[in-house]
Amino acid sequence: MDDRAELKHLTEVLTGPESSAGQWFAAGATLYELFLQRSGLNEKEAGLRRDVQMPSGKALGPIWAAFCLKDAIRTRIFLTSILNAIEAARQRFPGGPVHVLYAGCGPFATLMLPLVPFLKKNSAVFTLLDVWPENVQSVKTLIDAFQAGPFVREIAVADAVQYRIDPDRPVHVLVMELLQAGLTNEAQVAALANLAPQLRPGAIVVPERISVNAGLLHPGKDMRRMTDPEGAVQDVFHLLEPGFTLTAESADWLAFTQGEERVVRLPADRDPAYNRLCLFTRLQVYGNERIETWESALTQPLPLLKLEEPPQAAGIALRYECGVTPGFRFRLL
Ligand SMILES: C[S@@+](CC[C@H](N)C(=O)[O-])C[C@H]1O[C@@H](n2cnc3c(N)ncnc32)[C@H](O)[C@@H]1O
Repeated sequence: MDDRAELKHLTEVLTGPESSAGQWFAAGATLYELFLQRSGLNEKEAGLRRDVQMPSGKALGPIWAAFCLKDAIRTRIFLTSILNAIEAARQRFPGGPVHVLYAGCGPFATLMLPLVPFLKKNSAVFTLLDVWPENVQSVKTLIDAFQAGPFVREIAVADAVQYRIDPDRPVHVLVMELLQAGLTNEAQVAALANLAPQLRPGAIVVPERISVNAGLLHPGKDMRRMTDPEGAVQDVFHLLEPGFTLTAESADWLAFTQGEERVVRLPADRDPAYNRLCLFTRLQVYGNERIETWESALTQPLPLLKLEEPPQAAGIALRYECGVTPGFRFRLL
């Protein structure tokens, strides 16, 4: 099988409705090896394993950014979503190829290259950005290796938090995954705050919606969940309201960008066994494509506090802070 045929086959397994979870993970691992070999990225190079501190968060070292591919459910759901988003944008903006801005492409352009065998000629053209010159170089090598050139407008070293979209080349789909669980450490919020106002009306953002809620976790049930092959353990956690929702256009914008505080009360009739206060992240990537709790590194609960008995607080005040170390901050009430 040639490289392009192998890329198509692996993407089919990774995104196919018939594949099992084991097949998704195996396909992700094989795709990682294929991209590693064809890009020439040196996994052992220490300089590619350090993160870079930007004013709006960390940019993962290229090796860590490459590893994101192996987060198989994440990669599967994003790829399916982006293909659907391109189709929707083609209906919405007829008359030319859909322009996709892919910010934070990493060394493998993981959220673009696997789609290339499935894109119709002239259906889409990508602008790819990353802050690491090594990533940009690696992606250029892969674009050549997989003959993806006709789908690329530009590949540039640029900071998504500062980037200006050329008004003569409006963006129809924005793809961006500068993300960790709880929107911590990386620049997703700051980059969206920069890019969303520059998008034309009707443009699609992938991921479409990121929800973060405080919640109460039952550690005993969580332990049973991890060792239960049937996945039958119920009610492992309860989400608390109000949460925060990040979309390109929601009224929640101010809450994020200006650090508005939200008060989350602990229920008075709470079962004391639910004693771990955590942040829960969920993604609506596009349409019905979602990543739920525990399905990806992006949706692992982030522990905030172990509640004592009687609890040391009636609730918490929660707010989001942009800056060098973005993330949620809380204080006890
Ligand atoms: C979590 S990795 C994701 C890599 C790849 N897109 C994927 O989904 O597998 C995030 C990538 O975004 C890049 N990045 C982080 N902050 C950035 C910024 N402000 N502007 C542009 N790229 C950024 C990092 O260098 C890294 O390659």
